Amino acid sequence: MRGTELRRRYLEFFESKGALRIDSDSLVPNDPTLMFTSAGMVQFKPYFLGLQNPPATRATTAQKCLRTTDIEDVGDTSHCTFFEMLGNFSFGDYFKTDVIPWAWEFLFDVLKLDLKRVRVTIFETDEEAFTLWRNAGMPENKIFRFGEESNYWFAGPTGPCGPDSEIFYDTQPHLPPTPDGEWDDKRWLEIWNLVFMQFDRSEDGTLTPLPKKNIDTGMGLERTAAVLANLRGPFETDLFAPIMRQLEEITGLRYGATDDGATDVAFRRVADHVRATAFCLADGVLPANTGRGYVLRRIMRRAILAGTTTLGLTEAFLDKVLPTVIEHRKDEYPELERNAASILRSASIEEKQFRRTLSSGSVRLTAILDSDIANQTKIVTGEDAFSLFATYGFPIELTIELANNRGFEVDRASFAVLLDEHAKISEGASSRFLASESLVPALRSAGVGATTFVGYAETSGTSEILAIVRDGALVSQAAEGDVVQLVVDMSPFYAESGGQIGDTGGIDSENASIKVIDTQKDSGYWFHTANVEAGELKLGDKVRCIVDQDRRTSIERNHTMTHVLHKALQMVLGDHVQQKGSLVTADRLRFDFSHQSSMTQSEIRQVEAIVNEKILEDIPISILEKPIDEARDMGAMMLFGEKYGSIVRVVTAGDFSVEFCGGTHLRHTSQAGFFKLVSEASSQAGVRRVEAVTGRHALMRTLDHERILSDAAASLKTSPQNLMPAVERLLTQIKEKDAQLQLLVKASSSQVADKLIQAAVVIGTARIVTGLVDASGADGLRNLCADILNKVKSGIVILASVTEEKVAFAVKVSNDIVERGYHAGEIANAAATAAGGRGGGKADFAQAGGKDPALAEQALDAAMQYAKDIVPR
Ligand code: SER
Repeated sequence: MRGTELRRRYLEFFESKGALRIDSDSLVPNDPTLMFTSAGMVQFKPYFLGLQNPPATRATTAQKCLRTTDIEDVGDTSHCTFFEMLGNFSFGDYFKTDVIPWAWEFLFDVLKLDLKRVRVTIFETDEEAFTLWRNAGMPENKIFRFGEESNYWFAGPTGPCGPDSEIFYDTQPHLPPTPDGEWDDKRWLEIWNLVFMQFDRSEDGTLTPLPKKNIDTGMGLERTAAVLANLRGPFETDLFAPIMRQLEEITGLRYGATDDGATDVAFRRVADHVRATAFCLADGVLPANTGRGYVLRRIMRRAILAGTTTLGLTEAFLDKVLPTVIEHRKDEYPELERNAASILRSASIEEKQFRRTLSSGSVRLTAILDSDIANQTKIVTGEDAFSLFATYGFPIELTIELANNRGFEVDRASFAVLLDEHAKISEGASSRFLASESLVPALRSAGVGATTFVGYAETSGTSEILAIVRDGALVSQAAEGDVVQLVVDMSPFYAESGGQIGDTGGIDSENASIKVIDTQKDSGYWFHTANVEAGELKLGDKVRCIVDQDRRTSIERNHTMTHVLHKALQMVLGDHVQQKGSLVTADRLRFDFSHQSSMTQSEIRQVEAIVNEKILEDIPISILEKPIDEARDMGAMMLFGEKYGSIVRVVTAGDFSVEFCGGTHLRHTSQAGFFKLVSEASSQAGVRRVEAVTGRHALMRTLDHERILSDAAASLKTSPQNLMPAVERLLTQIKEKDAQLQLLVKASSSQVADKLIQAAVVIGTARIVTGLVDASGADGLRNLCADILNKVKSGIVILASVTEEKVAFAVKVSNDIVERGYHAGEIANAAATAAGGRGGGKADFAQAGGKDPALAEQALDAAMQYAKDIVPR
């Protein structure tokens, strides 16, 4: 059965049961807890919770969904990011006694499945579901019971939930039957999930019965269509066929024709990602560096990368494949056609930008691979790979592939460490949400005491586990592989605040080893977001907390230097400079301040000089706790709009800088090593934003720049000191050559013009000049037309030039001839039509294009004939 037919039959079947067919909701849900719509029920949450009245109590949908948790697997035969979910829903109307027999009817009467290939699962204590399946006709040995991890569906950490029953299909019917009671995950594929939604889960995990019992079911369209037709996966179905054919057409390759597998992987990856791109752009998501936009950017770039490196698509191709997706699905999803122009525009911009990135990164990578150091070790260092990634946006997969092709290895471990630090910045916002949202009341009611922070003085210490949070709920233990938030009684981990990012490190107990990836605080509780790497952990366990000291020091370098920078900016720009925002991470600092105009190069140099001077002076940092009035008298800088307690921390760097600050700091300025401003820009009206690096990052960046400089000098066969004069010489030479070239072009085009004029057909006083010429671009053709007409004064000039597998025409008609009834647009159209295209234009000048360059000469003849045949007025 084709996918489109499955979709139609499903919706019609549930309409026959009284359901209202409701349109798919947008991929961008009206739900702040979700980034994308990931299931059919998302748009109906308020109905399940009884917060809004539904338009009908029975509904059925085909919902577009996006899930990117498995994006790395996309390219194999089964995973998709974008898919459609078929669903039927009851809002307090029908329940289990109806939905199970209906599922049976749809599976066996409508789809006519072979019972031998079907099994179901139910929640372990759901006797009612068991009886209903058995009474419908399901043999008892085909009904399997599983616990909460398999057969309970939660809409999220909080919200509607309930036990479910899942329907599975045998993907390998040619093998001997799976013995009774045994389950083989690879063989049995879930095609439909029936959720008996009847509870609302609260923050503390309590289940409260919903006002009414509901049904939410979901069937993955692509995967079900594939297994029902005994195909390898979704990409073989009609739902992907037009995209695959279009990819074959533009690549000249055949899907499924190679043995290496890599080509097919790339086909599938591009096909999935292009589909996801079309639907995201249609719903208004635009590629960006954060949030939803980042997910889309990642999808698009992965498509471009697979297309370029594996399918050999060296030219932009998204805008060649997206129209196929739009055309194929516009009937069900009219937003695709409505927004077609903006989909193509956004995709082209993103692809152009990414291709620029790819080419500048490739040049840099080649320079690295050609350098002496890399050639001795045959290794691309983590720093180089990271700088390619961070400075040029060059993907690591590509660095690895290109390096391997030349016999180099990439130090992936060091790259991963640097990336981890970098990722912390962009993750900041989301992990804050993950850490503590609405957990405080639950902790208080469980009698959990607040955390004492000991991290100003120590970076390690013993402590006790007071609370474990998993998936937003309090639990009593955690095991290897869990991602949790831990609350301890004493913590040396600095929790993100005042712009300083949270600490990372480890928490170890006798039985467990845990990696802390972020620390946040809320109402006196410290939440350590952590991965349990080995062993088991439970409430009350004694643990040892160890902050990543190296990272903490990098953060402190940036924090102390933020204070010094603040003061230096006031010295250089004036006392009006006030802090408006600050971000302090391990690899850079960002500082927003009030100032109207952009900083000049000289101001930037002065600020850098002052900060570096203060580093060299090795000023001791002192931190005092003082009553607020006393602190104010010391001249400490306060931030407008900040709340301060009655006792405040005052951080001073000698007599240079005094600030209120809760953050952690260096002991001496010299520990910062070196300071470098890396960007200066506007942040909002009247506010400037600078970014800077210190310590190792500043050094690494400077060394990297030095190497770029010496590579550039070497390629001009000079020394870095003499690079500027060499560049200037080069620019002068280019200018001179340009001028010479212009002269040559003029002379040669004048010769070409003369030759064509000699061969012109003369009709009365007018001449018709035609010719196939080498002209670069539309302008070249237009200029040549004008030059020729200038020489002949009265006549028609018809020129063609062959470019990029196309033929371009230009026709110019002198005014006296236009008056006699000759029209350039019509003549151009005659030429273009003869070369498989179309054209038109004004009476005195027109341009047109034809598709077949081989027909260029013939087209000129046709145009000439057309012009000759015109009967003048
Ligand atoms: N909400 C359930 C799922 O996504 C059933 O629709 O699987």
